[in-house]
Amino acid sequence: MTDGELYERAVAVAGRAYAPYSSFDVGAAALARDGRVIEGVNVENAAYPLGICAERTALARAVAEGYRPGDIEAIGITASPCGGCRQWLVEFRIERVTYRSESGEIVTTTPSSLLPDTFRF
Ligand code: THU
Repeated sequence: MTDGELYERAVAVAGRAYAPYSSFDVGAAALARDGRVIEGVNVENAAYPLGICAERTALARAVAEGYRPGDIEAIGITASPCGGCRQWLVEFRIERVTYRSESGEIVTTTPSSLLPDTFRF
């Protein structure tokens, strides 16, 4: 699967987002090394800070299904990943991140370029 196809999978699931407060639907699709694609959407809550971003939903779902950091090769996201999600992308050692930037351009990059001088425990 190409990075462009992975991004299109993210676009396809964005409509399943639960975003009644922002009305900003986001989709994510994570490609595991075994070829599986694990999808996620943002899920908001009336207590606003409790909402979760689409890419974290996808990665948490991947972990629940048995995947570990290093098992996810690439991810497509229909929005520019927020700061917290960038830390998650680093943690999972994802090689390529394809997303729709603020300018509307579809870009492919690495977690370390999205989050330079990254905190590591
Ligand atoms: N959102 C994501 O799902 N991913 C990001 O990286 C950026 C922000 C969601 C969170 C919230 O539900 C909505 O977009 C508006 O911020």
